[in-house]
Amino acid sequence: MELNQLNAPRALAAMEYERGRTGPPTDFPNLPDIPGGRYVDRDFLALEQARMWKRAWLYAGHVDQLPNPGSWFLTRNTGAPIIVVRDMAGAVRAFYNTCRHRGAPLVTEDSGESRGFVCGYHGWSYTLDGKLTAVRDRRDFVDLDFACRSMVPVRCELLGSLIFINEDPEAQPLMEHIGPMAHELEQYRLDELRLVDSRSYEVGCNVKVLLDAFLEVYHLKSIHQQTVDRFLDHRGMFITLWPNGHSRMVTPNRRPDWIDPGTIGMPTLSGLSDIPLKNNVSYHIFPNFVMPPSDSGIPILQFWPLTERTCKVVSSWIAPGHDPANPHPMWEKRIGNWERILYEDLQFAPQIQESLESRGFQGMTLNYQERRIYHWHEELDRRIGVERIAPHLRVEQVLGDQVVRS
Ligand code: FES
Ligand SMILES: [Fe+2]
Repeated sequence: MELNQLNAPRALAAMEYERGRTGPPTDFPNLPDIPGGRYVDRDFLALEQARMWKRAWLYAGHVDQLPNPGSWFLTRNTGAPIIVVRDMAGAVRAFYNTCRHRGAPLVTEDSGESRGFVCGYHGWSYTLDGKLTAVRDRRDFVDLDFACRSMVPVRCELLGSLIFINEDPEAQPLMEHIGPMAHELEQYRLDELRLVDSRSYEVGCNVKVLLDAFLEVYHLKSIHQQTVDRFLDHRGMFITLWPNGHSRMVTPNRRPDWIDPGTIGMPTLSGLSDIPLKNNVSYHIFPNFVMPPSDSGIPILQFWPLTERTCKVVSSWIAPGHDPANPHPMWEKRIGNWERILYEDLQFAPQIQESLESRGFQGMTLNYQERRIYHWHEELDRRIGVERIAPHLRVEQVLGDQVVRS
């Protein structure tokens, strides 16, 4: 069933259909195995890094991290040190943290506030919008053109209050890239949501091992038996695959009137439709941004490759009506509960990695309800360029007809 914008009757019908079906829909293709080497092969991972991660739209942080003109923070999550800064005019920009003289870093702390950037090596100075303004002993440079020595910019665009960056200067604009999902996300008024919390975890597995876990609910009955499985019915889950590797998964609550008791009394977003209120909707912006909204707060997760066998998970919360100076007393417990669920996934991942590296792992056998994982891998190959990938590591492109394009 094709579903783009969430509409209650169609969503309920989709859940009914999923619960009642006795097999995948007849038009659903057989999913070939995902080659195991994609999780361990060094050359493949290098290709993935260069051709996909270095050219993808990636969440860098929240505008609350840049409260004033001159506020900045440093992110290394994309594998390069990048400064995200609010300039004097209030615009959010991003630059490589790399001096145009001999490449020293312009900032060495994780965050700060300044009127410009002064290199700690020989003192070259830049404005907040990256222009070179002063060079020590300028007389010793021949024909130095300041205009050609600005800090190198990184693409930087906003989704509400969420700052995304992309190291590819030619990247498609963010909202156009997100496509049909962008319109649906408007109901969550992301521009009004404040940053409540952000923390990160290092995990001993390839980044895709964890990413995969957040693209399906097939594992609820095993990994989350005592937590999520008690209130979500994975058999009624339906999926929408969007272009560019993005997707949405809607998993019904076991009881439609169920409300998380740990959120009662917290400020809420008004005007949400029943679908996000009475179900678990999880959005995925390719490659690594996962967001399951509720009316009283939204956890956002990113998964970052560190090495072939290690990754970092960043978990943050954004919420309506949040006052950082006076946070709602329930946040601590709520974030603790969330962390408990997260740990259920994280604690298993290093052992999965160990198993994947054995000869016993020959590939992944995905089912219909795991198709978002296949969609992710297909997109990875399209971004890398199928012809660049060794034939035994490619995934066949089979889901094209399942993608909702408008
Ligand atoms: S490297 Fe920055 S001033 Fe020399
Ligand atoms: Fe999980």
